[in-house]
Amino acid sequence: MKRQLHLNLFIHSRGHHEASWRHPAASPLALTDIRYFQDLAQRAEAALFDSIFLADQLALGGDVAQAARSWLEPITTLAAIAVATSRIGMIATCSTTYTEPFNLARQFGSLDHISNGRIGWNIVTTWLATAADNYGDTGQVSHAERYARGEEYMTVVKALWDSWAEDAVIDDRAGGLYAKPDRIRPIDHKGKYYQVAGPLNMPRCPQGRPVLVQAGSSDTGRQFAARHAEAVFTAHMEKATAQAFYADLKRLVAAEGRAPGEVLILPGLSPMIGSTEAEAQRLTREVNELSDPEVGRKRLSGRFGGHDFSHLPLDRPLTPDDFPPPDSVEAARSRTEVIVGLVRREKPTLRQLLASLAGARGHFTVAGTPEQIADLIEDWFNDGAADGFNIMPPVLPAMLDAFSAEVIPLLQRRGLFRTSYEGRTLREHYGLAWPKSAFDQAAPQRTWQFTSSAGI
Ligand SMILES: Cc1cc2nc3c(=O)[nH]c(=O)nc-3n(C[C@H](O)[C@H](O)[C@H](O)COP(=O)(O)O)c2cc1C
Repeated sequence: MKRQLHLNLFIHSRGHHEASWRHPAASPLALTDIRYFQDLAQRAEAALFDSIFLADQLALGGDVAQAARSWLEPITTLAAIAVATSRIGMIATCSTTYTEPFNLARQFGSLDHISNGRIGWNIVTTWLATAADNYGDTGQVSHAERYARGEEYMTVVKALWDSWAEDAVIDDRAGGLYAKPDRIRPIDHKGKYYQVAGPLNMPRCPQGRPVLVQAGSSDTGRQFAARHAEAVFTAHMEKATAQAFYADLKRLVAAEGRAPGEVLILPGLSPMIGSTEAEAQRLTREVNELSDPEVGRKRLSGRFGGHDFSHLPLDRPLTPDDFPPPDSVEAARSRTEVIVGLVRREKPTLRQLLASLAGARGHFTVAGTPEQIADLIEDWFNDGAADGFNIMPPVLPAMLDAFSAEVIPLLQRRGLFRTSYEGRTLREHYGLAWPKSAFDQAAPQRTWQFTSSAGI
């Protein structure tokens, strides 16, 4: 069969353009109304998307007065979406820096059971400096330390998800045996950052483990992805950097002893779709005119770990010297490289830079006809830049509907995208292997002892 594209719908505010929340084509529902998220997931499922994705930030942005950027907590939101859908995969973001691994393993394990195997975890270490203020007064953990903790974290959560064999539960009511204790193991983890005895207090997930997704693109982030990720979200503003990222990550994956096909690379794509190119550009201008450059300035500051850009005039061409060097930034390092790279290449004014970031925060934005969007997708897919896309509609649901109605049929006609769901789980939609249970790989070291009864 011809290699197939994978499409994920990234749900964010009322669309990815920062002014989308004000646009007449955006949903009338409140961003705290679960029907908004359920409805989008159902639309994406009807269009046969592989998955939907919810990002997360652990602090309120300073631009809330002019930007609709409040968040429902993603894990609870996905539970509500799970019961309103039946086939589409669902990915939630959760932080390794600010969540205990035992909690996370339970929450994602539960979601995988609730959804019958449709869950993925977007592993983040949390770049946002102000998040630290909500978790004690220790200040932001450095970039290197966040990834070092993340590494140990992955050992713990994988061991917890593997702590029950697939056949541990008997549920023999007549015989009185619920589970086989010799098929459940403690993990006895004692590391630098975590001490976790295990086992997990729930049976193995339908997918073995939730699908592991990651989105860090710095050198350390890529190494981390090469070891753990099964899908990688990434932001590029041009095809050449997406190709370089794709080649580098597949090389790192192979260096870890994994097959390059075990990791899907999904760059962000934010398409404004019109029946003519002029109409698509008019729609972009319309939403750009609703945005406020001062919101963009605050966001830019957040990206650069709180750096002060308030003195920069809006209409003078920028140079890389107007920014702190990306390797000195403890926040989202790879995205700062994307931004400084754009400044070096195109020398935009601050106003122009903020307008291009307003579209999708440093992801690829395009305005065009359905054919132009389908051509671009096919080109990146066939030219070593992507295994699929993280679709980021600038206005929701209008541009999701346009994509589903106009672009997906073109991709299907070209034999690039499914015409029905074949699998039931996210792992099957993504064409990923089943993770081997630790019980299949080695003899049990120590079986679970019933030392105490934890009644409720
Ligand atoms: C599509 C996409 C989605 C992301 N979602 C989140 C998120 O929800 N929360 C978060 O803290 N970081 C998120 N990130 C940021 C990355 O996880 C990562 O923290 C950031 O790129 C900094 O890591 P790096 O320095 O290794 O690049 C996202 C990145 C991308 C490309």
